Amino acid sequence: MANISIIALLCFTISVSSSLNYSYGAAAENMQYMVVGHVYCDTCRVEFETKLSEPISGAVVKLECRNRTNEAITFQSKEIVTDNHGDYHVIVEGDYEESDCDVALVRSPRADCSDPTEAWRKSRVVLTTFDGLSGKLRFANNLGFKKDIALPQCTRILQEMGYYELSQEAGYFTTWSKL
Ligand SMILES: *[C@@H]1O[C@H](CO)[C@@H](O)[C@H](O)[C@H]1NC(C)=O
Ligand SMILES: *[C@@H]1O[C@H](CO)[C@@H](O)[C@H](O)[C@H]1NC(C)=O
Repeated sequence: MANISIIALLCFTISVSSSLNYSYGAAAENMQYMVVGHVYCDTCRVEFETKLSEPISGAVVKLECRNRTNEAITFQSKEIVTDNHGDYHVIVEGDYEESDCDVALVRSPRADCSDPTEAWRKSRVVLTTFDGLSGKLRFANNLGFKKDIALPQCTRILQEMGYYELSQEAGYFTTWSKL
C-alpha cells in the first residue's frame, strides 16, 4: 500500500467530523467507512506482488455487498478509478454486518496487462463494527492484473525471492515454485 492520497484522507476526516452527530454516531445507518486499496500489474505473471509489480493508474474496480443469506445486492458502488499511484478510495454509508462485501477488478487501461489474476481479482472487506473491528478506514488487499508476457528481469527477481522454475509450459508461461 504505497501512498494513500493525503487529500482524500483529509477530505474524509473533515466530512466525517462535520457530519457526525455524536449522539447518533453509533447507529448503523450513520456509519461511514472509507475503503482504500491498490491495483497493480503482475509483471511476472506469478499471482503475487514482486518488486517488479507496477501500479496501474486508471484501473476500474467496484465494491459490492450481498446479503449473506439470499445473495441480494445490499450495496453497489459506482465505478472507482485508481489514481496515479494505482490507489483508490471509496466511501460507503451504512453498516453491512449481514453482507459479504468485496472490491473486484472491473477493467484495466493497459492492453498488455488486463488479465485479472485468479488469486487477486477481488478482495473481501469487512464493513461493520459489530464483529469487533473498529475504525472507519478499511484496507482491501491489493488487486492485480497479469501482464501478457512476463518481464525478462522476473527470472532473476524470483530466484532472489527463493523461487525456482518448475516448468516452461506453452512457450513463455513459466511456473514457479518456492524452494
Ligand atoms: C443530532 O441529531 C438529532 C436529530 O437529527 C438532533 O436533534 C440533535 O440536536 C443533534 N445533535 C447534535 C449535537 O448535533
Ligand atoms: C438478508 O436476507 C434475509 C433472508 O431473506 C433477510 O431476512 C434479511 O433481512 C436480509 N438482510 C438485509 C440486511 O437485507
